[in-house]
Amino acid sequence: MRRSQMLLPTLREDPKDAEITSHILMMRAGIIRKLDAGLYTFLPLGHRVLLKVIQIIREEMNRAGAQELLPPILIPASLWRESGRYEVMGKEMMRLQDRHENDMVLGPTHEEVFTHIVRENVQSYRDLPLNLYQINTKFRDEIRPRYGVMRCREFIMKDAYSFDLDEAGLEKNYQAMREAYRRIFARCGLEVIPVEADTGNMGGSNSEEFMVPSSVGEETIVHCHSCGYVANVERAEAKRELSSSSEEMLALEEIATPNVRTIEELVDFLGVSPQRFIKSLVYRTEHEIVMVLIRGDFMVNETKLKHVLNCIELEPATEEEVFQVTGAPIGFVSPVNLKKKIRIIADESVIGMRNAISGANKKDYHLKNMNPMRDFTWDRVADIHQVQEGEKCPRCSQSLKSYKGIEVGHIFKLGYKYTQAMNVRVLDKNGQSIPPIMGCYGIGVGRTIASVIEQNHDEHGIIWPMSIAPFHGIVIPVNMSDPAVVKAAEAIYTTLSARFEILLDDRDERPGVKFKDADLIGVPIRITVGKSFTEEGKVEFKLRRSEDKHLVALDDVEKFFEAWYEKEMAPYRV
Ligand SMILES: Nc1ncnc2c1ncn2[C@@H]1O[C@H](COP(=O)(O)OP(=O)(O)OP(=O)(O)O)[C@@H](O)[C@H]1O
Ligand SMILES: [Mg+2]
Ligand SMILES: [Zn+2]
Repeated sequence: MRRSQMLLPTLREDPKDAEITSHILMMRAGIIRKLDAGLYTFLPLGHRVLLKVIQIIREEMNRAGAQELLPPILIPASLWRESGRYEVMGKEMMRLQDRHENDMVLGPTHEEVFTHIVRENVQSYRDLPLNLYQINTKFRDEIRPRYGVMRCREFIMKDAYSFDLDEAGLEKNYQAMREAYRRIFARCGLEVIPVEADTGNMGGSNSEEFMVPSSVGEETIVHCHSCGYVANVERAEAKRELSSSSEEMLALEEIATPNVRTIEELVDFLGVSPQRFIKSLVYRTEHEIVMVLIRGDFMVNETKLKHVLNCIELEPATEEEVFQVTGAPIGFVSPVNLKKKIRIIADESVIGMRNAISGANKKDYHLKNMNPMRDFTWDRVADIHQVQEGEKCPRCSQSLKSYKGIEVGHIFKLGYKYTQAMNVRVLDKNGQSIPPIMGCYGIGVGRTIASVIEQNHDEHGIIWPMSIAPFHGIVIPVNMSDPAVVKAAEAIYTTLSARFEILLDDRDERPGVKFKDADLIGVPIRITVGKSFTEEGKVEFKLRRSEDKHLVALDDVEKFFEAWYEKEMAPYRV
């Protein structure tokens, strides 16, 4: 490709609305352009990378035995009503109507569609197992699209759905996908860590997210150095030493705490440690108003709480709702003497507490010496606690650490949720009609590319891994008005282009501009036709990722390029 003919608008300055490195560099290197919030065009340079990542994904999915197909992204709402998700999905799902006023959906995910395809086309155990995938556009109307293609509204996802006769089959497909993901990310030059993820109501290690450790990640990963335990904080557990004090129970006592509401304020005001407090929180779900109790030094994990409450929406109750059930403003409530009967969920940390402090359900008052069982009870005890750094590993009791990560992929044992809801049946070997068991497996293509840039760049620009670089090499004639230089550059370009992907920077620009651009767009091998060519007939080879330079005679250029290409490709051939 000739640079002079390419739509490759590089920028000298960082764009104002880009906050993270990958977003800045994707804009500056002319990889993407914004159309609207969360909507991006992949320009020609970016499109080349996109196609390479897609090709790697495709090869590895096929190697793992999955089959590619291409369903529509415009989906009739009736399928979503069948699965029960039409109401559940909320505003992230883009809804629209066709000209006949049929409700339609722009697919945010495709469980319903793939389940329907299998329902229509699969009859018996002979047709299974199946693992079907697409590489297709997804639409999610994210509340806060940000960081360029990391979190956008329209993006390309590879999503696969497996169908098996039994759990053993599902386990096999799941493990095959796990291995395929390991290979895909390794081939893209991306270091990822599989992390135990939240599974909704499935439990067990039935879901893993592939995380790229990064300070710009939106996920928090809890990790034990000692035994290797690693989990998304949404589901992470910790070994907790829960108080089961043998302290004598004292008489309940009201204390005046004018305008003192939060645990921190109470700690200051009363001079006691946060462990002595019971945090009493009132939430609203789509089903109920509920009170949640946890020890004062802990935080509630809302993902865990949602599972316990079996709800989709979870919000702190309003001042008015709190007043209605407790008779007190927020900050002064507790489970003792509630005005109205509501469900109470107690974290494990609360049960063994003695002579605790919490609200009096009366403005400007708290209660001292509150004792579980004696003064209040609960409807359910559960682990709803958010693990924090420094707590103990649930497996080996060593201290837990946490770090941030970007989720690039997700594998999930779905179970029978969709095949049952949508009434999919196949005949098993004994002629019994049974629903198949499903798994689903997603990779965000754009997010993968952005993550590669987060991991592979320097102050000058992107450093592409050879496997997904938009070009293998770039040829820079430093002086376009010297016919000998131009002729040599053209010859190299023509020869190498027969076997490799080469960009020829044939613009009439100053050498400094060309070098800066080459570094910015991150092409792995640079060949400069300049001073050493004029003086001794040699061109200069340089890798983007190192400072070493090699002078090579014209006749040896092809051989030399091949050797460097092979060496640079080697780490990504897994
Ligand atoms: N808004 C988005 N923009 C770009 N890629 C996305 C977006 N949402 C999800 N992805 C990608 O699709 C993959 C599979 O989708 P999945 O439904 O598991 O994501 P998710 O759990 O909604 O992700 P997140 O928690 O980041 O919103 C993710 O691992 C991610 O790589
Ligand atoms: Mg999401
Ligand atoms: Zn451990």
